Amino acid sequence: MRLSVIGCGYLGAVHAAAMASIGHDVIGIDVDARKVEQLSRGEAPFFEPGLQEILTEGIQSGRLRFTTDMAEASGATVHFVGVGTPQQKDGYAADLTYVNAAIDGLLPYLNPGDLVAGKSTVPVGTAADLTPRVEATGATLVWNPEFLREGWAVQDTIDPDRLVVGVPAGEAGERAAATLREVYHPAVAKGTPFIVTDLATAELVKVAANAFLATKISFINAMAEIAEVTGADVTQLADAIGHDARIGRRFLGAGIGFGGGCLPKDIRAFSARAEELGRGESVAFLREIDAINLRRRDRAVDLTVAALDGTVFEKKITVLGAAFKPHSDDIRDSPALDVAVRLRGLGANVTVTDPAAIENARSRHPQLTYVEDRDEALRDADAVIVVTEWDEYRRQMPPEHVSALTAGRIIIDGRNCLDAAAWRAAGWTYYGMGRP
Ligand code: UDX
Repeated sequence: MRLSVIGCGYLGAVHAAAMASIGHDVIGIDVDARKVEQLSRGEAPFFEPGLQEILTEGIQSGRLRFTTDMAEASGATVHFVGVGTPQQKDGYAADLTYVNAAIDGLLPYLNPGDLVAGKSTVPVGTAADLTPRVEATGATLVWNPEFLREGWAVQDTIDPDRLVVGVPAGEAGERAAATLREVYHPAVAKGTPFIVTDLATAELVKVAANAFLATKISFINAMAEIAEVTGADVTQLADAIGHDARIGRRFLGAGIGFGGGCLPKDIRAFSARAEELGRGESVAFLREIDAINLRRRDRAVDLTVAALDGTVFEKKITVLGAAFKPHSDDIRDSPALDVAVRLRGLGANVTVTDPAAIENARSRHPQLTYVEDRDEALRDADAVIVVTEWDEYRRQMPPEHVSALTAGRIIIDGRNCLDAAAWRAAGWTYYGMGRP
């Protein structure tokens, strides 16, 4: 099938390449000429396992192309819209500038019978607002939210755990759902749940899923706060409650909390939208979820200060991690970098290392010192803080090895990812988040 993908960021670039990899003929369109050039050369513009391979394969096969020219969307059966919906500069609501621009730019090239499938995360009601403009061309607008996780984006796109499609009522909606079943044929053939809803439900599914995940993380972080004043261990608590199948252990990792380009902005946009709808109180708890989350960054900084006898001024602190999570070079709203920046603000001599995110971190926070090599970064540190749980720190960093590099023996485990007993046995003072 011929497909166009408008917006080639994290979502769009992966979607375009993944759709080509399952046999479609795909044109990726973005306003950023540099990004388009890079993608056209088969270079992934960001770190995402597996993306490089499917990009190269797609371009070599001739099934995948990139352009800045919206006119090339003409002739595609389905037009996916995967542009960003960042938080507004002066508030919590989502900024829909790029969605509106993508739709308006696409309108002149739509043909009757085309399908426009929104993938961006949008406030509920957006699709209904856009529908008249799209329908005036004879095309149909549907909403097909994306649940991909960075680091697993290729797998999540080709083999998702569910597909959700919001369609308008009537025959056009039925036809649209049938077309999308064809688009996603490998996943549909293997029995992946394919859920057809109305437009509003599909938009809400996405924000509800992210709100739930954020709530789960902040729940365990709230328990960590209680553990901290009672001497309890939040990791044991999470293991114990996680055995209850109704609760489940995943997303009960207490630490410095969630960040990234989705969860923080999505829960804020959801609050803002609920207030517009006169139902602010229904999701008022999301403000609390946000506040708990941000407090954990303060806690990591406070722990570090306390561990260094009350001041970090002119102390050498090595910060292990900059990305908002492992297997990603994304530093958007990264709790890891936030902690590094705050320690530096308190006068610490901060050295940051990360296996993938240094380049992005440096352009955002040039005031920090970056060292590529982990062991070089650790040299002469008075204290070490783990803020992104890369395997390089979690599994491949024996305490005895680190002892030979650092000046001090203080380790702060901002992700509760280290073996506390092993570090203590090697003579280190270990501090976890919500652990004794
Ligand atoms: C998230 C959703 O998972 C995905 O479905 C949606 O499409 C986009 O937003 P992503 O932002 O890639 O995906 O990251 P995710 O793996 O959900 O992690 C989000 C943040 O939560 C990270 O900062 C991570 O470190 C943190 N986290 C996750 C925890 O602090 N504890 C946990 O137990 C799990």
